[in-house]
Amino acid sequence: MRPTFLPYGRQSVDEADIQAVVEVLRSDWLTTGPKVAEFEEAFAARVGATHAISLSSGTAALHGAVFAAGLKSGDEAITTPLTFAATANCVLYQGATPVFADVCPDTLNLDPEQIDKKISPRTKAILPVDYAGHPAELAPILETARRHGLIVIEDACHALGAEYSGRRVGSIADMTVFSFHPVKHITTGEGGMVATNNPEFAETLRRFRNHGISSDARQRQSAGQWHYEMVLLGFNYRLPDIVCALGLQQLKRLDANLARRREIAARYTATFSEISGLIVPAVRPDVNPAWHLYPIRLDMEKLTADRAQIFRALRAENIGVNVHYIPVHLHPYYRERFGYKGGEFPVAEDGYARLISLPMFHGMSNQDANDVIAAVKKVVGSYSRS
Ligand SMILES: Cc1ncc(COP(=O)(O)O)c(C=O)c1O
Repeated sequence: MRPTFLPYGRQSVDEADIQAVVEVLRSDWLTTGPKVAEFEEAFAARVGATHAISLSSGTAALHGAVFAAGLKSGDEAITTPLTFAATANCVLYQGATPVFADVCPDTLNLDPEQIDKKISPRTKAILPVDYAGHPAELAPILETARRHGLIVIEDACHALGAEYSGRRVGSIADMTVFSFHPVKHITTGEGGMVATNNPEFAETLRRFRNHGISSDARQRQSAGQWHYEMVLLGFNYRLPDIVCALGLQQLKRLDANLARRREIAARYTATFSEISGLIVPAVRPDVNPAWHLYPIRLDMEKLTADRAQIFRALRAENIGVNVHYIPVHLHPYYRERFGYKGGEFPVAEDGYARLISLPMFHGMSNQDANDVIAAVKKVVGSYSRS
């Protein structure tokens, strides 16, 4: 057993990151200043989008995207139940209704055929999630969206740096949402971004994050003006200069972070695909995942223990396993508000019952990965039927 607890995800912060933050602390602008624009421009260039708009979290970015898409009371948006609650909650923030569709058995991403069955005259948007960092089925989803006049908001909070059919995630959907929470590929503590090629969405998002005001304080100062106009009901969802400086620095290491995650995933997959009782994450052809998570599924028929026992045994080995996700419709809030009882989305629910996320982050050492492999072999081996 390893001597210290290994979390499932963790940030890496180096001296250059700290210096960049300290420099901003000594400057004139702590919140919306030059670092915001620099971070947004560098980010947009990295993901291949014309615009990137920073917001205070991935959740705020989702809220902004749903707002910019024009969702309101009476509208519906189709999304996956196998995600973090924020993906569906952002639809509720706008008074609209999230409608869940089941997922594909291999990737656990939103199933395009199931989406088709959920489209109604009220549907305004589709919110696919790139589960674990594997891009959603964007081509058929966009095709369906174009046919019905819907907006696609891709929740790519897991997928910064992923590629789909040779294109970068962030350059494909109408709006793509990212998170900079510490377990993600780059961090600003809390933080989020919307990437889009649509100038109107970009303008609305810039206003939405700043109370609905049509200019920011720095623009007014440099123009020598006091006048401003509030043109829509926005929020204070700004990402401060202090952390945009951190984001800019972190972005320089994105490629190295991705390479390390891909290396660890390749080692895990090579080892775990040989172990009876384990199902490794699927990778579709023409996709380069970003490996935010490494979720294995248990093949219960080949094991003598249930998921909870295996989870506890791995935790007892100091391996910080986790489960992503309890399907959103099974949370008490959704059950009570919408009457879900379980059984509505059999593929997502079956996936959930078997899932365990193993530690996966770019700062993991080879020894950390060896410890995960040794613990999984030991625990799963001891509960194997064969
Ligand atoms: C799929 C998904 N969407 C949205 C979010 C929300 O992002 P944030 O924590 O930055 O608000 C997360 C956060 O982990 C996520 O995993």
